[in-house]
Amino acid sequence: MPKKLLISIVFILTLLTGWGGSTHFTTANAATDNSLTKIQKKGTLVMGTSPDYPPYEFQATVHGKTKIVGMDVAVGQKIAKDLGVKLKVKSMSFDSLLVALQTGKVDMVISGMNPTPARKKNVDFTHLYYQGGYSIVINKSDKGIYQDKDSFTGKTLGAQTGSTMYTESKKQTSNTKVKGMTSVSDLILALQNHKIAGVAMEKPSAQAYVANNKQLAMIPSHFNLSADDTVAAVAFKKGSTALVNKVNHSVDQIKNQDLVNKTYLPAAGKYLKTNTVNTSMWHYWKAFLTGVEYTLIITVCATFFGFILGVILSLARMLQGNPLKTAIRWLATAYVEFIRGTPMMVQVMFVYFGLGLIVNLPALTSGIIAIALNSGAYVAEYIRGGINSVDAGQTEAARSLGMSSGATMRYVILPQAIKNIWPSLGNEFITLIKDSSIVSIIGVSELIFQSNIVRSDTYRGVAPIAVIMVLYFIMTFTASRILNHFERKMQHD
Ligand code: ARG
Repeated sequence: MPKKLLISIVFILTLLTGWGGSTHFTTANAATDNSLTKIQKKGTLVMGTSPDYPPYEFQATVHGKTKIVGMDVAVGQKIAKDLGVKLKVKSMSFDSLLVALQTGKVDMVISGMNPTPARKKNVDFTHLYYQGGYSIVINKSDKGIYQDKDSFTGKTLGAQTGSTMYTESKKQTSNTKVKGMTSVSDLILALQNHKIAGVAMEKPSAQAYVANNKQLAMIPSHFNLSADDTVAAVAFKKGSTALVNKVNHSVDQIKNQDLVNKTYLPAAGKYLKTNTVNTSMWHYWKAFLTGVEYTLIITVCATFFGFILGVILSLARMLQGNPLKTAIRWLATAYVEFIRGTPMMVQVMFVYFGLGLIVNLPALTSGIIAIALNSGAYVAEYIRGGINSVDAGQTEAARSLGMSSGATMRYVILPQAIKNIWPSLGNEFITLIKDSSIVSIIGVSELIFQSNIVRSDTYRGVAPIAVIMVLYFIMTFTASRILNHFERKMQHD
């Protein structure tokens, strides 16, 4: 029997990898370059960015709503306008931007990104639109201790994961620990809590952080940089020659007319000043409420579809008889084992990025699908366990009274089994309230995601975490009270 299981798993794996591999070759075909017409037909241009990098891109609260602003957004707007389409800005972590571009989640990336040779292998860049350069942000109280990148011996220097600062800090410092974090705002918090001694980033960004925070100061980095490392360009999917050529006109205009310095930066600066004014958590109740809403939507939908899938799987796992039934049983078993043997986080990313190569699903839908697929495997086991826990004598008695196997299931086994299954289902629902937080990695606006926004907006590290802890507890506690109530009722009948 284990052999068959192994075969099914190998079969599924070959299917998955085979399909992942074949899509790889379709991306870079210049002969069928319809990149430009595709965007124009679609009417929207989706820009991916990591809004933790003022003045390039950052979140600002405008009339109680958080919005992504900054000079890169202005660059995106100009590009979209010149193409005659609408701009949509999508926020994600810096290190997943290029994956999102390659898998079609976004149409372009503008995120203060340097067109390095390594990146050029995977995506196409436009001409440069801005020249930055590197600096290091430190605590003002440490001024005098650190002069540049070489003064951090025995200390920790922070840099954003996936950024050129991270690679260069590793390469160009000695006896310095380089700590990577996904968001620059988290790095700044770590700096203020003295977990790290400095943060390497682009000079304009360092200036913005220092201008907004009296406890911070900046020093030159003195990194040895190539020309590509100091400029920012717009990235498109590999092979989008027509689109890149067209966008280069807009980018050249931006550069030649110095639009960034003359118009975009001053406009972004206005948001910067209003950004840190209100740091009370009450001010962000709307963001938290949205988070709760999304968390509940995901949990309810995923539980519902997960339950249906679980019922189907558990029935499939009980099939016996002809080879077809056996095959179905083995597939169901393989599925359950596979899902239970891989982390939900990986499954979420697989559905969003992997499945995204075939059908372009929005993040929320992908999140619900992934969690439902995951939950189904567990629910199937609860149902199977519940049914198995009903004494075999019950079936024998019912069958000897002349009941069909279907009727036995429906009238004798299931009513008893449901009492055993119900508490597990309730637990599953409560677990999903908490575990749905994983979908924040693909940018679904659930509670964790919202707390990250509040965190980067207020530069307060702990308060938003405390708030969502309480909110999660209220949700799970209420849910468990309600479920207990029904459970007790069932025990009475
Ligand atoms: N210029 C650096 C790079 O290309 C860092 C950019 C970080 N951008 C951001 N939006 N966080 O890797």
